[in-house]
Amino acid sequence: MRAIASAPGKVILFGEHAVVYGRPAIAVPVAQVRATAEVAPGVPGSGLHLVAADLGRTVLLADAPADEPLAAIARLTLAHLGIETAPDTVVTVRSTIPIASGMGSGAAVSSALTRALAAYCGRTLATEEVSALVFEVDKLYHGTPSGIDNTVIAYEQPVYFVKGEPPQPFHIAHPFTLVIADTGIASPTKVAVGDVRRAWQADTDRYERLFDRIGEIVRRARRAIEHSNDDALGPLLDENHRLLQELGVSSPELDRLAEAARAAGARGAKLSGAGRGGNLIALVRPDQAETVSAALRAAGARGVTVTQVG
Ligand code: MEV
Repeated sequence: MRAIASAPGKVILFGEHAVVYGRPAIAVPVAQVRATAEVAPGVPGSGLHLVAADLGRTVLLADAPADEPLAAIARLTLAHLGIETAPDTVVTVRSTIPIASGMGSGAAVSSALTRALAAYCGRTLATEEVSALVFEVDKLYHGTPSGIDNTVIAYEQPVYFVKGEPPQPFHIAHPFTLVIADTGIASPTKVAVGDVRRAWQADTDRYERLFDRIGEIVRRARRAIEHSNDDALGPLLDENHRLLQELGVSSPELDRLAEAARAAGARGAKLSGAGRGGNLIALVRPDQAETVSAALRAAGARGVTVTQVG
């Protein structure tokens, strides 16, 4: 008996960072890139082995340190299921989601692993249980995450998210096309979130005002997406990017990609995720996707993905 589960990548459309401070944010799954976990029977008495196939790394759960990401989600899952002795299994994870790019690779791997391991043990986890377990692991790595990454990835649906509240149903009236461009520069969420926190502590009023302005953009973006008002979305992306620059989480590379996308005809562009590196997203008409992708590559993007949202 084997069990397999998978989970998508994600991008944040609007509201990153401010979401950590209680403002809303909008995120969508990106199904073209996925993490997969497969659980297969192991040799009797061998314990539970975790194989990170892409990294060529194998660890025995019993020997793994507490902060090993795969071990952490495996242990949390078994504890949640009330299983004291890890089954003799080989748990193999693979992912096509770029690591540390803001696309939620860690949360997707955790989500796939917890679902596959539960299924192998004959159990089905509710989506909110998956989301909560993945959140526990994200906290180990990201310090003070808002919970948006585990939510959008576990639910695999567009989410309008406010920290501490259940995700709100959110309808995309008219599908739209995004070009996602990877700077190739790692975007460690913990570092960017920690820097914003220090800046907020040093100048709380200014940062609260910036977060309020971002929150207002997110509310306007939700109305635009729900009412097929695509013309409003591009300028809202641009405005959100400017505010992220003011928060100090953009970078010359991200700004260069944003300019290149706009010059090639994109209707708007912003960094997505924690920033500093990671991804830029550009809103395009479907017939512009190729031109904008080529312009982004010429401006230094390492990888470009075109995705339809909705
Ligand atoms: C990271 O994908 C999004 C951030 O807002 C952090 C978080 O919400 O936990 C930067």
